[in-house]
Amino acid sequence: MTQFRVKGRKKLEGVVKVSGAKNAALPILAASLMAETPSTLKDIPELRDVDNLCQIIAKMGAEVKREDGQVYIDPSSVNNPIVDFELARKLRASYYVLGVMLGREGFARTSLPGGCNIGNRPIDLHLKGFKALGAEVNMDHGIVEVKADSLSGDRIYLDYPSVGATINIMLAATLAEGQTVIENSAREPELVDLANYLTIMGADIKGVGTDTIKIEGVDQLEGAEHRIIPDRIEAGTFMISAALTEGEVFVENVLTEHVKPLIAKLKEMNVDVEEDITGIKVEKKDQLKSVDIKTLPYPGFPTDLQPQIMVLLTQADDTSLVIETVWENRFMHVDELQRLGADIKIDGHSSLIKPGNLSGAEVTATDLRGGAALILAALAGEGVTIINDIQHVERGYENIEHKLSGLGADIQKVSLHNNQKKETGS
Ligand code: EPZ
Repeated sequence: MTQFRVKGRKKLEGVVKVSGAKNAALPILAASLMAETPSTLKDIPELRDVDNLCQIIAKMGAEVKREDGQVYIDPSSVNNPIVDFELARKLRASYYVLGVMLGREGFARTSLPGGCNIGNRPIDLHLKGFKALGAEVNMDHGIVEVKADSLSGDRIYLDYPSVGATINIMLAATLAEGQTVIENSAREPELVDLANYLTIMGADIKGVGTDTIKIEGVDQLEGAEHRIIPDRIEAGTFMISAALTEGEVFVENVLTEHVKPLIAKLKEMNVDVEEDITGIKVEKKDQLKSVDIKTLPYPGFPTDLQPQIMVLLTQADDTSLVIETVWENRFMHVDELQRLGADIKIDGHSSLIKPGNLSGAEVTATDLRGGAALILAALAGEGVTIINDIQHVERGYENIEHKLSGLGADIQKVSLHNNQKKETGS
């Protein structure tokens, strides 16, 4: 078991560089299998989810080489359209292999994907899209199989602008015959990055970033070189950390248009935010003001920053309201924040956050972003906090303890073996 041990109340100061976006890297890694020739992908973060997807891809027959944030994938030897069931359960994004292999081979089989336990996480919209393209879909005892002699384009209206469903349908439609139109599509920057990569591979995709995407199927794709966009959620987490510790942090390698909803809320809370070409400076000088936040699909306030901003709201001057509309179970971190002294009440999809001091205790990360929120609360709290089950955090934050230490945080990663505690880094 590995823990983070954090001594709070240190001002965070300096420069921190954001890594490539996990949620763009994952579908892009999967999409590389659709090409005839190798791809080189840059700024791929060192994360557990990426490790697992690379293993899945290798087990399907591709040659995968990883070095210094760069991944080389040669898909020419892919011969196995069946995803390793154990690995598939470890990450949500394993289901992208369905769209990829359906387009490439007309067949794929996987177990239902894993990922954070933040809601029901159905894949009905993905399957509805595959069916509309002419695929047969079978689901039995948690195993999903998709097959088609040929795929042909169609008009698909998504009942909800699901990120995963938009991506999966876009992947399959890229190698289908004719035109596919996805209406009420998601608009997240990560799927725009995927579409940019597919386009340099030879795909014909228009309207990405709007709510209607048009895809003209092509016969084949060639591998390409592509650099992944910066991770807006990691950037947002560091921006919040600066405001929370009364610090001054320059967050480097962030595309400001991707974090506009956070910038707006931080400014409303009285935090100084200065945008620059290379990054964003965040400084807290004055008392924070309470604000209300509702999570929404992009370009609304991201659900993936809801747990982290909730911690910041505990330091505001009055009660704040947070409404979670994307995931029905994304308040699991609240129990743990309460152990650190937070005064938060949940009523269905809403939570009321009252101001109060935070102080150290032993807590457990329940999911990726909830775990990040616990780290933030520990940084702001008096005394020492121990955070267990940090493997959730390591699924989505590259070297978070080193990046925070670089800003002056007192954070250590501790491995516990046979009841003995051993320091492994700071
Ligand atoms: C992506 O998940 C991200 N994961 C999530 O980030 C993020 O929270 C989410 O988008 C929303 O922004 C990856 O990119 C790997 P959705 P995804 O399909 O694609 C419902 C993180 O912390 N829905 O947009 O799974 C669903 O239940 C992770 O990095 C259906 O009803 O999200 C949810 O309520 C966690 N049927 C809503 O749509 C479907 O077929 C949004 O889900 C699919 C989704």
